[in-house]
Amino acid sequence: MDINTRRDFLKFLGYSTLGLTQLSTLTSCSSTVLPFSKFPSSDDDLILHPSLSYDKIISWGDAINESEVFGFNNDYINIEYLNTKELIMWVNHEYINPLFVSGLERTKENVDIEKSLVGGSLIHLKFNDKNKWELVPNSEFNRGVRGDTTIPFANNMSVKGSKTAEGTLGNCAGGKTPWNTFLTCEENYDGFYGERKSNETQISYKRSRVEWHKFYPKNVPEHYGWVVEVEPKTGKAQKHTNLGRFAHESATCIQAKSGVTVVYSGDDKNDEHLYKFVSKSNSNLKNGILYVADIKAGKWLPLDLDQSPTLKKHFKNQLDVLTYAREASKILGATPLNRPEDIEIHPTTGDVYVALTNNKKRGDFHGSILKISENESDHANLSFQSRTFIFGGEAAGMSCPDNMAFDNQGNLWVTTDISGSSIGKSPYTKFGNNGLFIIPATGKNAGRPIQLASAPIDAEFTGPCFTKDFSTLFLSVQHPGEMTRDLKSPTSTWPTGKIPKPTVVAIDISKLELMNV
Ligand code: FEO
Ligand code: CA
Ligand code: CA
Ligand code: CA
Repeated sequence: MDINTRRDFLKFLGYSTLGLTQLSTLTSCSSTVLPFSKFPSSDDDLILHPSLSYDKIISWGDAINESEVFGFNNDYINIEYLNTKELIMWVNHEYINPLFVSGLERTKENVDIEKSLVGGSLIHLKFNDKNKWELVPNSEFNRGVRGDTTIPFANNMSVKGSKTAEGTLGNCAGGKTPWNTFLTCEENYDGFYGERKSNETQISYKRSRVEWHKFYPKNVPEHYGWVVEVEPKTGKAQKHTNLGRFAHESATCIQAKSGVTVVYSGDDKNDEHLYKFVSKSNSNLKNGILYVADIKAGKWLPLDLDQSPTLKKHFKNQLDVLTYAREASKILGATPLNRPEDIEIHPTTGDVYVALTNNKKRGDFHGSILKISENESDHANLSFQSRTFIFGGEAAGMSCPDNMAFDNQGNLWVTTDISGSSIGKSPYTKFGNNGLFIIPATGKNAGRPIQLASAPIDAEFTGPCFTKDFSTLFLSVQHPGEMTRDLKSPTSTWPTGKIPKPTVVAIDISKLELMNV
């Protein structure tokens, strides 16, 4: 292809739908972020590229109202504006570490504390006179939706004999609907109340490290592993069986050409699958079909008894298909993937980017990012093309991509998740602690990850979320010091200087050269 003009060049890169203002911003984007010599780092600190600065917003244990505190292990973040200077922030609290929050002994009292610290928080923030985001203490909007909150199943569904579940947990990443509600994803639910297959009556508690079932045996595995929709102003929540049950990492929404809502979700487990739900509506998730990806054939396979009648041999009704979506997917021949985590959609091309973190059992230690282009650029289309956008590893200088976010210029921001037990050990030695990276869309470093931040010891960055004007990046610092075995000698003391605390920070990115030129 001949590229004669700047406009042709941008078209070639996939920016054909950008307006003229944005064009001029992008075309002057020839200067690039300079790599920072301190990265990678193994220091116990949140270290930023020199053009960035941060403020703490809130940490685990901080009061949000008279009766509730901010939960543990903050993860996914999204925001809903009340006005230009105030917003409601949703923050996931994925799991707890009993050593820090309650006590290793398994008692009902300790479990009750733990239940109150997972799920999510709604917090009211305002942009103050010092040009910083801060919590509005005791705001009417501040509330928890936690492991002990009663939550109904959507569509009046009854799951294992109950129309409600006790609590939400394992809340990893999520999404935001076109009608401005938050979606929070229940990921490793088997760590709380166990798991069983469709043909089993006995529950296996093999992976239930916190053993909550001992005190709450009525909370069965089938009540967890769903996508939960939360209203920002009221905290009203519902669990959507329509989106299937598995270790949901994210629930990324986009409108298809016809206007209906499509939700992409990955199942973060070795050799599990990539899903999309196509709603029949543009304003709710009440009706629709869940599909699973056959990557080789480039086809979306319907997890639907009528459209895939072979499922009738294994499942007695559609709710069972959705409840045991992993089993149904394998029957249809879905492609096993290397831990599909976050999913983001390119703001102008509409391509779907899927982080595949790793799959050590298959020799994939550094992961990759898969790019899916739906046929006819329609997210409701049932066929697609795919290719690898980038491989993690030493050449990329980035390993184990997990959470992602696109800025308004199409730069992809990526956080990494090298597990706490692997950081600093072969084959991860060279990468130091987990980091935040930008993969520029243009300029001489286009397509090449550049590190912008390094996390404290044992931590990972999660939940990257931009403000509307792209001047601030909200970011979770999750599980600093998670390898601690003795509170007297924690592996990290960030950010208190004493014990580690999961914390949400606001990073000022307005001076980042790439963003500003
Ligand atoms: Fe909770 Fe898949 O990270
Ligand atoms: Ca994650
Ligand atoms: Ca994301
Ligand atoms: Ca992860």
